[in-house]
Amino acid sequence: MNEEQLKEKIRLLKQQKHAIILAHYYQDKAIQEVADFVGDSLGLSQQAARTDAAIIVFAGVHFMAETAKILNPACKVLLPDLDAGCSLSDSCRAEDFRVFRENHRDHISITYINCSAEVKAHSDIICTSSNALKIVQSIPDGTPILFAPDKNLGKYLVSKTGRDMLLWDGACEVHTAFSYDKLTALMKRFPEARILVHPESETQVLDLADFIGSTASMIDYVKRSNASTFIIATEAGILHEMSKAAPGKTLIAAPAVENNSCACSECRFMKMNTLEKLYACLENETPEIDIPEEIRIKALKPIERMMELSI
Ligand code: 13P
Ligand code: SF4
Repeated sequence: MNEEQLKEKIRLLKQQKHAIILAHYYQDKAIQEVADFVGDSLGLSQQAARTDAAIIVFAGVHFMAETAKILNPACKVLLPDLDAGCSLSDSCRAEDFRVFRENHRDHISITYINCSAEVKAHSDIICTSSNALKIVQSIPDGTPILFAPDKNLGKYLVSKTGRDMLLWDGACEVHTAFSYDKLTALMKRFPEARILVHPESETQVLDLADFIGSTASMIDYVKRSNASTFIIATEAGILHEMSKAAPGKTLIAAPAVENNSCACSECRFMKMNTLEKLYACLENETPEIDIPEEIRIKALKPIERMMELSI
């Protein structure tokens, strides 16, 4: 079966089963093309919460599919490959986080959505890169804040808000692999280029940016900007939607250091999903995301607080 035939079969199965496919911008082009909605973490959560589909196939990583299930428990949520995890989420084990919270009981905990359902269940409020600034600013001055698990996003928020937050020591292996030296060399070759960086990146790379924001806001920036050349420091899958949104503009993927697994800026977890696995998952209705109800209820609260602040 060729790619087009496979896509057609997926589209037919979606109709028969009253299913939708939600895909993150980091997914392969072919997966984005069969998706009903492609978006960032916040947009995908909002879509998951409002759909009346019987099945959501989540073309993304495990914590995203879990968030969809937490928000829409009546829906069967499938993930094409259960091993599609996240290095950032893995850097924060639920038991360690519970102890950390116990040791800082006076702190309110703002937790980035890239974490497990159990970690969410131990949190006060969730955020994504789209709304993190707004959420930190919503906490009254003087209330101590604990921010987990991404220390780079945390440092960025500290610099923007002046709030002295206690940071968990976690990071994303993709966004911390951008090479400062290669990026500055590239900037010399393309002095007219605007530099866009995701806030999960390290401070020295963020300091080079003309724009810092979530994947969705980066696409929006490129669309609206008068500039014609952009260097993009986030996972390379975003270039597909970006080039559709801003045809004719020159988009250059920021280079990663040599010693990461591929010297590219691909997320090995996001790329575990393939069109073939997506088809098999929809046909067999497995692997399915299952969360104990007690944890789901606890994890829902801080997500709902985020949703209320994101309207
Ligand atoms: P956003 O798409 O919400 O900006 O998140 C990026 C990311 O790394 C997801 O894992
Ligand atoms: Fe996790 Fe980083 Fe991959 Fe996003 S890009 S899923 S934060 S490892």
